[in-house]
Amino acid sequence: MICRKYLGSFLASIVLIFFGAGAGAQLTVNDAKIEALIKKMTLEEKVSLIHAKSSFASGDVPRLNIRGFVTSDGPHGVRLEHGIDYSPDPNVYDSGTYLPTGVCLAATWNPALGYEFGKVLGSEAAFRGKDIILGPGINIIRSPLNGRNFEYQSEDPFLVSRMTVGYIKGVQEQGVSACVKHFAANNQETRRFTINVEMSERALREIYLPGFKAAVLEGKVNTLMGAYNKFRGEWASHNHYLLNHILKSEWNFKGLVMSDWNAIHSTMQSIWNGTDLEMGTDLSMQPNPTYGRFFLADTVISLVRNGRAPEYLIDDKVRRILRVMYATNMMEGQQRKKGAYNTKAHQLTAARVAEEGIVLLKNESNTLPLNKTALKKVAVIGYNAERKQSLGGGSSQVKAFYEITPLQGIQTIMGSGADIVYAPGYNIARGATADALSISRAAEAARSADVVIYVGGWTHGYNYAAWGDNAYDAEDTDKPDMQLPFGQEELLRAVLDANPNTIVVLMGGGPVDMTNWEGRAKAIVQAWYPGMEGGNALARILFGQLNPSGKLPMTFPKKLEDVGAHALGQYPGDSVNVYYNDDIYVGYRYFDTYKVEPQYAFGHGLSYTTFAYSNLKVQANGKKATVTFTVKNTGSREGAEVAQVYVHQQNSALPRPEKELKGFQKVVLKGGEQKTISIILNEDAFQYFNDVKNKWVMDPGSFDILVGSSSRDLRLNRRVTLK
Ligand code: BGC
Repeated sequence: MICRKYLGSFLASIVLIFFGAGAGAQLTVNDAKIEALIKKMTLEEKVSLIHAKSSFASGDVPRLNIRGFVTSDGPHGVRLEHGIDYSPDPNVYDSGTYLPTGVCLAATWNPALGYEFGKVLGSEAAFRGKDIILGPGINIIRSPLNGRNFEYQSEDPFLVSRMTVGYIKGVQEQGVSACVKHFAANNQETRRFTINVEMSERALREIYLPGFKAAVLEGKVNTLMGAYNKFRGEWASHNHYLLNHILKSEWNFKGLVMSDWNAIHSTMQSIWNGTDLEMGTDLSMQPNPTYGRFFLADTVISLVRNGRAPEYLIDDKVRRILRVMYATNMMEGQQRKKGAYNTKAHQLTAARVAEEGIVLLKNESNTLPLNKTALKKVAVIGYNAERKQSLGGGSSQVKAFYEITPLQGIQTIMGSGADIVYAPGYNIARGATADALSISRAAEAARSADVVIYVGGWTHGYNYAAWGDNAYDAEDTDKPDMQLPFGQEELLRAVLDANPNTIVVLMGGGPVDMTNWEGRAKAIVQAWYPGMEGGNALARILFGQLNPSGKLPMTFPKKLEDVGAHALGQYPGDSVNVYYNDDIYVGYRYFDTYKVEPQYAFGHGLSYTTFAYSNLKVQANGKKATVTFTVKNTGSREGAEVAQVYVHQQNSALPRPEKELKGFQKVVLKGGEQKTISIILNEDAFQYFNDVKNKWVMDPGSFDILVGSSSRDLRLNRRVTLK
């Protein structure tokens, strides 16, 4: 007998299973073999496949030579080996390539690098015997406070989509499955295990889903991870609307949905609502986990046996799991790809992402690049100059094969040419503030130097060996505010007083409040968490061996109150709900529409050369338009520019943001060189989600096509009428 409560899900499930094929179909190979295998399996065997059998592996069916998945975090490197629990396995060779984190990748605005990044991850995962890599993490950056923004990519759904597709293809071409996460609306860590997210359908469709949709339809991602939070009252990891309705029905996703670790709360809902694999529920069962106690384990067997749940739903989960197993070359007779590990080529990709992702925010009177032959004494100040970041942040931690710190990078470039004085100035420890002695030592070092390179900002927490020490840019925690931690404001003031020729380098997953000192720093560089080669990349930029080309993938506000989520919406909500009243006004969509001045705009990033834009032509063709323009390097040194195309609609039935990013291209130009760029805007570039009609619409009329170097540095515009 089918419970009335699940009748809606039941009908949808039937539609899904029998009429699911269509656009976006994937993983359809080996269907006949899969059906034959399902027929051979007992119910117990089927159920053993749909839940974990260790902290990172899923169950198997030895009788049929089916082995479970071995998964691993995470988004920017293959995590160190863990045993049945989460403690690191000793004596294994598990250090890997530590890539820059997601937000740095997005700051490259180079989708081809997204692909290269994915290739490194896939290849290292294959080498280490992993079947699924638990990335990319693509939740929208809604507030600068979210502790996991460093793992994510952007506030803009278009940029997220473009970077994510390449990443997934790069991973999956290595014979490893990617796992896009966390679906959906996991935009804060505060109360992540309990919070219920409420937002309009329009915000969901326009802001929070496009990255996932691109991952499924264009990236053909094999697996997806549900989020911890609730969405409209139902847990995201077994949410009928998100999983059955949107993902599996509308987008025709053929792969598997796994839960986030320990995100399952109900067997019935998981059976009916589209969860295929339950992971992570063993935490409270240590040291002898009884996996039969999982929600998708023994209880499922009894429910099916006593007629409370139909077996075809279990079959569908198994079918999806087997599809991914075939796609990952795990089945009998299939050849696994070998992959490679800690190669020079992988390290070069890590370097390139850092080199293209580091953003030059300010460069007064061309302070940068520094000329090393003219410098006798350089003061490097700030603990982040020597801090290794790879092991921090939570589940995305990586045991780096090596990690070049900013200080090491600067030392390598300077060689024996100049005297480098280093003073940490502050201490990274719980409750630490910069004390008078460390401040005066730093100021003294600054005073006698030709130039000061201050390296500070955020960090992932205090002691990276202790999970409970996570803080700031880390899982399960949000930042308390946007103020520089550990007394760095005071320190920076003293350093700037001692030597005005100060360059500030900030590390972290997002902005700090700079209003007290931004005007006094000669140059400001946003270095994110730039991976194992980050110190070298940073030094090469500071000393001019490289021309910076990163652009902000998120708005840097002056004050936290200036952010849409904080000004209009709720953040982090009350103890039960968070209402996204900021709606579609996320990131620059808020700043531009509500006319709030940011500290640094979305898409901003300087170069050591200059670019001129000219000759914009927009050719309308039905509901599409082709945008052509010329970008010229008007300086003498080679550089790369990210040309950005935004769309503004003159009149629409529902209000729209002032402008929205709909195209971009990164172009490398020699001094004096110019190139013509052509970007096609399809109908979807002009559409918005009309939640009165409950569909994507294009209101015909006038659209302004805005082209420029950032969302607030627009150089060309042209009006076009579309019918
Ligand atoms: C995180 C996921 C991660 C999983 C496994 C969870 O706590 O939210 O992103 O993949 O743990 O480590």
